Amino acid sequence: MNILLLGSGGREHALAWKIKQSKKLNKLYIAPGNAGTALCGTNVSIDLNDFEKIKSFVLEENISMLIVGPETPLVEGIHDFFLADKTIQHIPVIGPQKAGAMLEGSKDFSKKFMLKHGIPTAAYKTFTKSQLRDGVVFINSLEPPYVLKADGLAAGKGVIITENQGEAVQILNYMLADAMFGEASSKVVIEEYLNGIELSVFVATDGNSYKILPVAKDYKRIGEGDSGPNTGGMGSVSHVPFADKAFMQKVEQKIVIPTINGLKNDGIPYKGFIFIGLMNVKGEPYVIEYNARLGDPETETVIPRIKSDIIDLFEGIANGNLAEKEIVFDERTAVCVMLVANGYPEAYEKGKLIKNLDNVTDSIVFHAGTKTDTNGNIITNGGRVIAITSFGNTIEEAKTISLKNAEIIDFEGKYYRKDIGKDLVI
Ligand code: AMP
Ligand code: GLY
Repeated sequence: MNILLLGSGGREHALAWKIKQSKKLNKLYIAPGNAGTALCGTNVSIDLNDFEKIKSFVLEENISMLIVGPETPLVEGIHDFFLADKTIQHIPVIGPQKAGAMLEGSKDFSKKFMLKHGIPTAAYKTFTKSQLRDGVVFINSLEPPYVLKADGLAAGKGVIITENQGEAVQILNYMLADAMFGEASSKVVIEEYLNGIELSVFVATDGNSYKILPVAKDYKRIGEGDSGPNTGGMGSVSHVPFADKAFMQKVEQKIVIPTINGLKNDGIPYKGFIFIGLMNVKGEPYVIEYNARLGDPETETVIPRIKSDIIDLFEGIANGNLAEKEIVFDERTAVCVMLVANGYPEAYEKGKLIKNLDNVTDSIVFHAGTKTDTNGNIITNGGRVIAITSFGNTIEEAKTISLKNAEIIDFEGKYYRKDIGKDLVI
């Protein structure tokens, strides 16, 4: 079959890499893609939010499945757009409709959903501009640290955590009164701080049954020892030793099953992936957030651990027979180390030549922010540039291989964390 994959990051390269291995694939197109996805299929220059153009392309190239990588087109309703159009409604879309994508698109919606279905999460209250005073009173009633979340999509920057009560009040003001994140902060969720270790659980669902993919942990802070500002993710590890059988049983019973049943009971169709960001608080899982897509850079360790055909999994999601599908996982551990540009996550330069990609051995290289210039050179084109994934029998083993190649691949201003997974090694 011919597949169109939307997105341009490391997640999409990992998906494209895996899709390319399927016997069921005829042609793979990636829009807009990066220099790495171009090695797995054909990049096409289409804006992710130009649904009309996506439709024309799908019809012209006889596409029989659309896979959506990032959240924005989902929250903007690309799946609904396909269903509403007679010429393309038969083409399955992997990724939820708008109603399901609201789990990510609105923190207030997702908190209400969790509360309604008894899914463990931090206690919270939501405030609008007219309730600013009540918000301040609420902050004053809480113990620090204070967690403030813009309701809508804010490119991963909408969560602010501070120890300082005055600062929390000021941020609430910025968000509500000064539209710090535009429309996204017209509502603000203020919630209880959860103290624990985070992990990411990806669930594939056809809206009825589900499969839990290998668990991963990502490393969000720029600096070693989890210091400095948040980034899109500096690396990931899968599996996660503390997510043992007993813990995962709790995750499944208390979170995954109530989530799938909650969607069903609320009449929200869902075909795609639910990314559950969890906090392990003294052995009990709590939901930090839902995302309506796979995570990045978790995908770069989770997808390589799937041994079976990924198109078979997508077909299960699309056709509603996911329960019949057997998914086989690699028992080894995968570690991904992300090479980022100098200055990231603040302002950074692009256009730096990436060298020595061909000298990599024993790792899988996924491109994130890269492109091919007019001379055919691969250059940097984003803050997160290259994800290096390796396997090992232990985190240490896998990490050592990724770090070896992190030394080899080079570009001006290259930076990476050397401690990915270190906190998980006992
Ligand atoms: P989110 O955008 O919801 O993933 O939040 C960004 C990050 O903020 C999360 O990955 C957590 O590290 C942190 N965070 C969010 N909510 C809480 C909370 N209630 N308690 C502690 N940390 C949180
Ligand atoms: N790794 C976190 C995310 O994709 O949002």
